[in-house]
Amino acid sequence: MRILITGADGQLGSELCRVLGYETIIPMTLPEFDLAKPDVEAKVVAASPDLIIHAGAYTDVDGAEREPDEVVAVNAEGTRQIAAAASRLGVRLIYISTDYVFDGQQCMPYHEQDDPHPINQYGFSKWKGEQAVLASGTNSLIVRTAWLFGAVGKNFVKSIAQAAQSETVLRVVDDQRGCPTYAEDLAYAIVALMTKDVVGIIHVTNRGHCSWYELARAVVREIGADCPVLPITTPQAGRLAKRPQYSVLSDSRCASLGIVLPEWSQALARFATGPGLFSTEPQRASLPQS
Ligand SMILES: NC(=O)c1ccc[n+]([C@@H]2O[C@H](COP(=O)([O-])OP(=O)(O)OC[C@H]3O[C@@H](n4cnc5c(N)ncnc54)[C@H](OP(=O)(O)O)[C@@H]3O)[C@@H](O)[C@H]2O)c1
Repeated sequence: MRILITGADGQLGSELCRVLGYETIIPMTLPEFDLAKPDVEAKVVAASPDLIIHAGAYTDVDGAEREPDEVVAVNAEGTRQIAAAASRLGVRLIYISTDYVFDGQQCMPYHEQDDPHPINQYGFSKWKGEQAVLASGTNSLIVRTAWLFGAVGKNFVKSIAQAAQSETVLRVVDDQRGCPTYAEDLAYAIVALMTKDVVGIIHVTNRGHCSWYELARAVVREIGADCPVLPITTPQAGRLAKRPQYSVLSDSRCASLGIVLPEWSQALARFATGPGLFSTEPQRASLPQS
């Protein structure tokens, strides 16, 4: 099977390339392939894949507040073009979306049928992308995930591990809860979903949930550092973009298909014992030739 992967050198995209190495991968990456450009649909159609996994996105949540037009161009309009290409080719599209489509006002896990109500530009643009995929009528699956960590690129877990070795104290937000998710586990789950006749929206995260503070403490514990971690509030963190306070995703639909990811703490322990945690920036997986 020929699988086109957007964002193929990103955190998730590179794991997908690795896990799907037995298939023919068509990696689509910047600068040749720019989701903000009008030739996205034509380029995907020309590549003629059998399946599209659309993992590429503008993912800088605070940057998106400064560049609202750019983030919509990439995440909403770019996704609309990808969906149009999938529709023209008559191939299945798997679109990766986010817990940040929700406003976080709920106090129980979000299900797929709950109404999105994004509170920042990034979440808004990803939700527009979801709407474009659904409106295209193409055979599609929207995979919402959350709080990704993995070996490639920047993420919270790597940042905390590095900071714990150089700082005397870490102050981390304790009033936002979500589901940390290991990119490798997510990649395997996506491969499992590829083989199933499932459409619509599905939530896929590692099991369990925590606050960023609790996640930071677990990272520091895993690496055996003695740097203290102190809880702070969201206003104290002073970030530009609003974040949902509670964006825990229910994995019940995924579990009903027999796909259950490990607890986030177990996934973190696996990641921490591998070489990825202290990999330096920017680290990119070597991509297969298309
Ligand atoms: N990270 C998270 O915590 C998280 C949580 C929930 C959902 N998600 C979703 O999961 C997916 C994968 O996220 P990730 O963590 O793997 O993100 P990532 O590491 O930031 O990778 C995103 C990829 O998209 C590419 N990209 C950015 N702008 C582009 C453009 N204009 N045209 C083409 N490609 C572009 C990036 O290329 P460059 O690196 O060259 O810029 C990178 O390869 C995304 O759809 C994201 O919205 C992520």
